[in-house]
Amino acid sequence: MVALLGAMTLVLVAVAPWVLPVAAGGKNLKSYQKVEVDIIDDNFILQWNRSDESLRSVTFSFDYQKSGTDNWIKLPGCQNITSTKCNFSSVKLNVYEEIKLRIRAEKENTSSWYEVDPFTPYNKAQIGPPEVHLEAEDKAIMINISPPGTKNSVMWALDGSGFRYSLVIWKNSSSGEEEIENIYSIHKIYKLLPETTYCLKVKAALPMAWKVGIYGPVYCIKTTVENKLPPPENIQVSVQNESYVLKWDYAYANVTFQVQWLHAFLKRNPVNHSYKWKQMPNCENVKTTQCVFPQNIFPKGIYFLRVQASDGNNTSFWSEEIKFDTEIQAFLLPPVLKVRSTSDSLHIYIGAPEQSGSKPVNQDYPLTYEIIFWENTSNAERKIFKEKTDFIVPNLKPLTVYCVKARAHTMDEKWNKSSAFGDVVFVKTKPVFL
Ligand SMILES: *[C@@H]1O[C@H](CO)[C@@H](O)[C@H](O)[C@H]1NC(C)=O
Ligand SMILES: *[C@@H]1O[C@H](CO)[C@@H](O)[C@H](O)[C@H]1NC(C)=O
Ligand SMILES: *[C@@H]1O[C@H](CO)[C@@H](O)[C@H](O)[C@H]1NC(C)=O
Ligand SMILES: *[C@@H]1O[C@H](CO)[C@@H](O)[C@H](O)[C@H]1NC(C)=O
Ligand SMILES: *[C@@H]1O[C@H](CO)[C@@H](O)[C@H](O)[C@H]1NC(C)=O
Ligand SMILES: *[C@@H]1O[C@H](CO)[C@@H](O)[C@H](O)[C@H]1NC(C)=O
Ligand SMILES: *[C@@H]1O[C@H](CO)[C@@H](O)[C@H](O)[C@H]1NC(C)=O
Ligand SMILES: *[C@@H]1O[C@H](CO)[C@@H](O)[C@H](O)[C@H]1NC(C)=O
Ligand SMILES: *[C@@H]1O[C@H](CO)[C@@H](O)[C@H](O)[C@H]1NC(C)=O
Ligand SMILES: *[C@@H]1O[C@H](CO)[C@@H](O)[C@H](O)[C@H]1NC(C)=O
Ligand SMILES: *[C@@H]1O[C@H](CO)[C@@H](O)[C@H](O)[C@H]1NC(C)=O
Ligand SMILES: *[C@@H]1O[C@H](CO)[C@@H](O)[C@H](O)[C@H]1NC(C)=O
Repeated sequence: MVALLGAMTLVLVAVAPWVLPVAAGGKNLKSYQKVEVDIIDDNFILQWNRSDESLRSVTFSFDYQKSGTDNWIKLPGCQNITSTKCNFSSVKLNVYEEIKLRIRAEKENTSSWYEVDPFTPYNKAQIGPPEVHLEAEDKAIMINISPPGTKNSVMWALDGSGFRYSLVIWKNSSSGEEEIENIYSIHKIYKLLPETTYCLKVKAALPMAWKVGIYGPVYCIKTTVENKLPPPENIQVSVQNESYVLKWDYAYANVTFQVQWLHAFLKRNPVNHSYKWKQMPNCENVKTTQCVFPQNIFPKGIYFLRVQASDGNNTSFWSEEIKFDTEIQAFLLPPVLKVRSTSDSLHIYIGAPEQSGSKPVNQDYPLTYEIIFWENTSNAERKIFKEKTDFIVPNLKPLTVYCVKARAHTMDEKWNKSSAFGDVVFVKTKPVFL
């Protein structure tokens, strides 16, 4: 373990040499040494070098001193050590308080004490590799990461939910890697291939303490065979009247759907939250690819939603979980279009969405509109982005029915959200008058 971490070790350098007594035979035991303190999670290890490998019968002992006291105490685990390494993890320390260490060597006589630079264990501690548990679906992998340290870690006792993780995932025996950063301890990766082995490694970080750990071992898992109904896709929430409307896409008929929701803050909590999902009222056994639920079910906040399909025998995996922020949802309503035509152009006006109740209005946030239009008789869509709410689309054919729909996007980094598409508007261009 320590060897594995060698490259990351922080070194406490003794600025002065510490000196062994002169041994029998006049051999000079003087040496220049340094003591390394390696703290990884709750493992406290000391390592040092002996100057002369022939001095086998020398033993080393450490004392420690807690901050605010004057008495030196024998450091358990580090007494009469014949090797050059000891483990003092069993000592109960306040990891936020500075401690002092001193070392001496003993052969026949005893050397004087040499003091190691004082240090505060928490500041010195490195984050070890986290333990990872994987579960596979046909196109997704669930990753459950245990926070670093022992179960009742003293070192990270106050950091339990402060851990964030990064991972690198790749297809086994392929060189393309993808890095996923800043995730919580339970994370799902979607859009993978079925029956494919993926490998990943994870590292932990404590952003609040400016600590970044090191990658743990590589874990591999094979995604399962695709033999279930596919999960619903393209889940979108919008607001209508006093209700939320949740819509999704599904390829097959004759299935029923159910929807579940989860408080987003539960994802920060490093415990298995899979049983905390709750059934969405009014969205159980629905036969349509949408369901409507009252706005007042959800107090202000952030939630996750997921949808599952079932045909009686066969149940799909859960869809991707979509984030649902009541505040953003409230102001990012689908735009309302008014379209006028000439013989070769459309004049599009984007209106503020119909507000329900006292919701904030779109104008408080800079929006970009995505407008998609196509000829009614064709599937060839054209897409444009506009910040203006009043513009002309030129160069169209006369006497043609055009279909137009639009949605709003926020430009702000904080509110990276899109509304659902509003209703499709059909407009026929005018004939050409010569
Ligand atoms: C150990 O110390 C004693 C007393 O100071 C001295 O007489 C003796 O020679 C020392 N032994 C060695 C091996 O240095
Ligand atoms: C001990 O010596 C080895 C090899 O010279 C060196 O790589 C290592 O850093 C030293 N360790 C300490 C604690 O000084
Ligand atoms: C270490 O050695 C000293 C004397 O050589 C002895 O008194 C002491 O009990 C030893 N300590 C341990 C922990 O073995
Ligand atoms: C250090 O000792 C603790 C028990 O006190 C043990 O759990 C841990 O594995 C040891 N670490 C090493 C690197 O030997
Ligand atoms: C990864 O691929 C290599 C070579 O293709 C293979 O030997 C190894 O067994 C694979 N590992 C897993 C976990 O499937
Ligand atoms: C479930 O559905 C999939 C896709 O429709 C199908 O391939 C599979 O055979 C079904 N499994 C069972 C147990 O009915
Ligand atoms: C909203 O109200 C309008 C008019 O009352 C109604 O036609 C529409 O179906 C309602 N939409 C939803 C989602 O309830
Ligand atoms: C759905 O079920 C109905 C009756 O149960 C059946 O007539 C219809 O063919 C089914 N449709 C599909 C797409 O399976
Ligand atoms: C989380 O809990 C669920 C249900 O309680 C269980 O099926 C699942 O295996 C658990 N996941 C992990 C990673 O422990
Ligand atoms: C469920 O499975 C049974 C037996 O395999 C089959 O007869 C039936 O058609 C299946 N129902 C659906 C909805 O696929
Ligand atoms: C669009 O085309 C379909 C047939 O392709 C037709 O039934 C429909 O009436 C057309 N819509 C409009 C608004 O013209
Ligand atoms: C906004 O979200 C999209 C995908 O949902 C992502 O590609 C893009 O990088 C995000 N932009 C910002 C500023 O977060």
